[in-house]
Amino acid sequence: MSDSIALWQGEHVNFAMLLDLLEDQLDLFHEGKKPDYEMMLDIMFYMTHYPDLLHHPREDLALARILELDTNSRPIVDDLIEQHLRLKDFGDALVRSLQNIVNGSITARSRVEVPGRAYIAEFRSHMLKEESVILPLAAKLLSEADWVAIGAAIRHVEDPLFGLKREERYATLREQIAREARASKARGLTST
Ligand SMILES: [Fe+2]
Ligand SMILES: [Fe+2]
Repeated sequence: MSDSIALWQGEHVNFAMLLDLLEDQLDLFHEGKKPDYEMMLDIMFYMTHYPDLLHHPREDLALARILELDTNSRPIVDDLIEQHLRLKDFGDALVRSLQNIVNGSITARSRVEVPGRAYIAEFRSHMLKEESVILPLAAKLLSEADWVAIGAAIRHVEDPLFGLKREERYATLREQIAREARASKARGLTST
């Protein structure tokens, strides 16, 4: 497998884990317990400052190249590119609602729960489509030269949460992720 495809899949694993964390908070919310709004905001801030700024634009370039090489892929390519735009709008709206809850200007939970669940569902189904259809096509059709051209055409953004240059604003979220990883490892050990 090429490094580019492995990186692509690895980023999906990270995003899926963040969506699980976000969903856990919405479940708390649903049970009438107090969710961690700051953590939800950190997750959504990341989603709108890494996937939306680098992951999806890089995919758009890969999708355009796939379409050049296989015109039958047009329906799925168009669908995924449109979903990128929709996810960005959804994500930005959710960030605004969470910011308003954190700063106390709104309190209506439905302003977060309904769009939050819709965002999670749409992002998950989007990644599933990419992994079941587009990643195999990319692995088959795109050469190393294509990936080099894609890399050169895109403005690089360092992953501020999982990358090498980690931003301080995600320190609490990183601790939460590490706690979750330890808890799931412990669950794995006790279940064996
Ligand atoms: Fe995508
Ligand atoms: Fe993706």
